[in-house]
Amino acid sequence: MVIHFDETTKIFHLQGGQVSYLFQIVEGFLVHIYWGKQLRHQAFSLEDIEAWAYNQQQVQNPNRLGLIQVRERSSFHPQPIPGKKSYSLDTLAQEFPQYGTSDYRQPAYQVQLDDGTRITELRYESHRIVPGKPALAGLPAVYTESDNEAETLILTLADDYSGLKAHLSYTVFAHSNAIARSVCYENTGAKTLLLEKAGSAAIDFADSDFELISLWGAHERERHLQRQKLVRGSVRLESRRGSSSHQMNPFAALVRPTTDEQQGDVYGFSFVYSGNFCIETEVEQFNMTRVTVGINNFDFSWVLESAASFQTPEVILVYSAEGLGGMSRTYHELYRTRLCRGRFRDEVRPILVNNWEATYFDFNAEKIAAISQAGSELGIELFVLDDGWFGHRDDDTSSLGDWFVNKNKLPNGLKDLADGVNQMGMQFGLWFEPEMVSVDSELYRRHPDWCLHVPDRRRTESRSQLVLDLSRQEVIDYLDETLSAVLSSAPIAYVKWDMNRNFSEAGSARLEPRHQKEVAHRYMLGLYQLLERIVTKFPAILFESCSGGGGRFDPGMLFYMPQTWTSDNSDAVERLKIQYGTSLVYPVSTMGAHVSAVPNHQVKRITSLDMRADVAMSGNFGYELDLTKFTAEERALVQRQTANYKGIRKLVQQGDLYRLLSPFDGNYTSWMVVAKDKREAVVFYFRTLSEPNPALRRVKLQGLDPNLDYRFEGNDSAYGGDWLMDFGWAVPLLQGDFTSSWFKLTAQ
Ligand code: DGJ
Repeated sequence: MVIHFDETTKIFHLQGGQVSYLFQIVEGFLVHIYWGKQLRHQAFSLEDIEAWAYNQQQVQNPNRLGLIQVRERSSFHPQPIPGKKSYSLDTLAQEFPQYGTSDYRQPAYQVQLDDGTRITELRYESHRIVPGKPALAGLPAVYTESDNEAETLILTLADDYSGLKAHLSYTVFAHSNAIARSVCYENTGAKTLLLEKAGSAAIDFADSDFELISLWGAHERERHLQRQKLVRGSVRLESRRGSSSHQMNPFAALVRPTTDEQQGDVYGFSFVYSGNFCIETEVEQFNMTRVTVGINNFDFSWVLESAASFQTPEVILVYSAEGLGGMSRTYHELYRTRLCRGRFRDEVRPILVNNWEATYFDFNAEKIAAISQAGSELGIELFVLDDGWFGHRDDDTSSLGDWFVNKNKLPNGLKDLADGVNQMGMQFGLWFEPEMVSVDSELYRRHPDWCLHVPDRRRTESRSQLVLDLSRQEVIDYLDETLSAVLSSAPIAYVKWDMNRNFSEAGSARLEPRHQKEVAHRYMLGLYQLLERIVTKFPAILFESCSGGGGRFDPGMLFYMPQTWTSDNSDAVERLKIQYGTSLVYPVSTMGAHVSAVPNHQVKRITSLDMRADVAMSGNFGYELDLTKFTAEERALVQRQTANYKGIRKLVQQGDLYRLLSPFDGNYTSWMVVAKDKREAVVFYFRTLSEPNPALRRVKLQGLDPNLDYRFEGNDSAYGGDWLMDFGWAVPLLQGDFTSSWFKLTAQ
């Protein structure tokens, strides 16, 4: 990994992993040159730079490479650089596009000056290259453990007129095909500026022969894969809900039309943020494609006082020449090992049982003890007490904010309950929804102004609750103190941190009018501050984030909590799509997946206990049903399932994922996980509906070592990795609907 800068041509060449990224300073503007497969570093002469797009002839400098495309001048492409009539900001590929000086495409940022004007012209001022990767104050970010792992370019652009500076940060990694980009905006002028858009990154591609992949959805239907042709005009993938959302994940990828799982160019954008975001693509007149990524500029502005700075969240760019599978494995490795933190980053995760779908609000200490006892006999390691243990909460209409035990249900308190669970050989976990307040709660009666609201306006309730105003320091301090007291009061080994509504009336009673558009981002900063405090104070607790399932399944939350409840939909068939889509970006170790009862509570489907377990074993395995109701036969099966999972969980949670068959393409789904040293693999295969008189199906495995021979567990024969990958594995006969099978391969 190395960052080159050529003083003559003013070209930066960033090389990291197997990727190159190049741009040039032209009269202070940054012109994008290349992002893709790694290129050898080469010194160019100034004659090599221009490639002409001309009315009469294509190339003016024959036999030259032509690094940046320039055009014959035209009335409709203004030329800001004296003496360079062929250079227009409107037609050059930009690295950090600005508004108002003749680039008519979407800018990376927008700012309003004190005099009401909106024009700034950021030009190169200086740069420095530092080892490692500096942390982003107050924000989640990918990190390094030693300076040898990465190198960071910090490039400063300045607008002399306003005093605005943008410090662009680019990190390249020694062993990853990722590049981390973010921006710190600084006001060095005497007058206040208003940031109206604060992008984290922008990039221009030379053509538009792309398809756009996004992960859209809804509650109980998260992260479904959408692939659409990129056409002229703009597409905005965004959230305006206050959280990253069920509806659109903060991720996009541009792929070539022929790209598939195993081959083809992929350019991934994953935004490390849990609030309102926008990823916008724009295809313009010459078929160039611009992508901008950042905090959503919709309903956003930030007052940047003199001498103040604004640090954006970072976006992780991943290039893969090995299709979507290659992109996913790059994200997985980086996020699992250099975004997730703490003790549990590298530890296998416990098999849990959660009482939510078993009891909902209707439980007491005896019921909890019975489920825990059954769990411990079945090989389950952690009992999680979900919603309803606090205040007087017997349904979802009250008590959020009142984090003291509900003595009607648990007369001897939490410690007694947790000790009892521990004595059965299980760890104890607890659910919270700290960011919320019920209207019927002591907290709300005491502090009715502590929620997001607009004074004298109606407050829109959702699930009878309001969102606490985490832009207020006293609210953060109160939550820190209250949660810490509960967490210290009993042997709590796990916390599920839930969040069950989106924002409305997103105002803060504490802020002056000119700061009101800052509320959504200030909330995120407050949440991150609170999370940092809590996870630092309780390093022995495993935290799982949740937002009505996967409504905030994003890299920002993973910085604090290494796993997420993937979806409130626990139906095995629906989960195939949800987990497949989620795996595009997020590692298996981050995906909570549980076996639940049938008929399934969300879709009423009846699937086999085998299939439910096989789907859940493809993630962070657990159960979410009343374990005391199993028949003897089911109990024996569940005992085998937990034992099996313990045998493969390190591999499943920490290996490399290969997607073999997509549930979005039809009746079959398959994926496999291969150990880093390629000596072990586990393959999962699912068929949704039975078929009459089917053809033989063969699945070609991936990721094995072609030169090793692998043995199926329980079979003496061994087969070459090349055979398993190129000839394929004949799928065993499966009987009936909703069936599955899995097996383990071990190298000889
Ligand atoms: C939503 C979560 O996703 C569920 O798992 C459960 O914890 C409920 N909230 C409890 O209210």
